[in-house]
Amino acid sequence: MEKRDFLTLQSFKADEIREMLELTRRFKEGSLSINEGSILSGKSIVLLFQKHSTRTRVSFEVAINQLGGHPVCLGWRESQLGRGETIADTARVLSRYVDAVVARVYKHSDLEEMAKYADIPIINALSDMYHPCQIVADLYTMWEKFGSLKGLKVAYVGDGNNVCNSLLIGCSKMGVNLSVACPSGYEPSSEALRFAERNSKESGSEIRILRDPFEACKDADVIYTDTFVSMGDEAEREERLSVFLPKYQVNAELLKVASDNVLFMHCLPAHRNEEVTDEVIDGPHSVVWDEAENRLHTAKAILAMMLKRDFHNP
Ligand code: CP
Ligand code: NVA
Repeated sequence: MEKRDFLTLQSFKADEIREMLELTRRFKEGSLSINEGSILSGKSIVLLFQKHSTRTRVSFEVAINQLGGHPVCLGWRESQLGRGETIADTARVLSRYVDAVVARVYKHSDLEEMAKYADIPIINALSDMYHPCQIVADLYTMWEKFGSLKGLKVAYVGDGNNVCNSLLIGCSKMGVNLSVACPSGYEPSSEALRFAERNSKESGSEIRILRDPFEACKDADVIYTDTFVSMGDEAEREERLSVFLPKYQVNAELLKVASDNVLFMHCLPAHRNEEVTDEVIDGPHSVVWDEAENRLHTAKAILAMMLKRDFHNP
């Protein structure tokens, strides 16, 4: 069987993403017809982190344990990667020990290099370009809250970063309309935009890149934001805050133009009172804790689909 990586959502068909969401539902409801603890039994998975993480690191470690597998947590700097061993050599060696690597890196090209030399699946736990595992949880959260995805109106306000790139791909695959409001110079990547355009032709999604958050959020079912200063952008913090604030902050004023039942979503961690006010993230429209919980259930679905390809659940 040829190995398959999960570096971006673009490499999964809409039907496969749907299958992931359906599997997530079964994990979350506890309605699998097989013992969850047998799914990864005998399998070991490396969790390799070059940057900070709370949700991704903990949800994957717990998911692997609950599926009966063995997680091996490895800090980039503590491994020989930190002393200059190449990614290619590391990938070749890890392929001899474990069944998959879940990796968070600065450069997306490092993940591509790892995937090229590994014989085992590489799962993107966030790179400078993409955060596909997050978007599976976000799509699941929307599906769970609204009962369907097709035709939903999502507004993303802020930096056209890794999360925004993956949201573009995920929404455009699943028939979700997405309006991104971002300042000039902070647009999503041209690759993600190209993928989104291609996907939307098939799914019927409407994708818009705008400057005005109020225009993007008009009648929106979901308003989504992320930090203005991603990991790796710290040196630009002051400049970025001066570009994004106050215009791109998600606050009560902005929520007023959205649908009455609008949901507020954020991948977290939040930088409170920068990209979102306390009033909104702690308010009645916010679903950020359910969204964070869904990282665990979706991590299980992703692992089950990637590592147990004969996974059937009659
Ligand atoms: N949303 C997310 O990926 O969170 P962590 O950085 O805590 O993993
Ligand atoms: N855009 C953020 C997401 C963190 C989960 C970052 O890359 O730091």
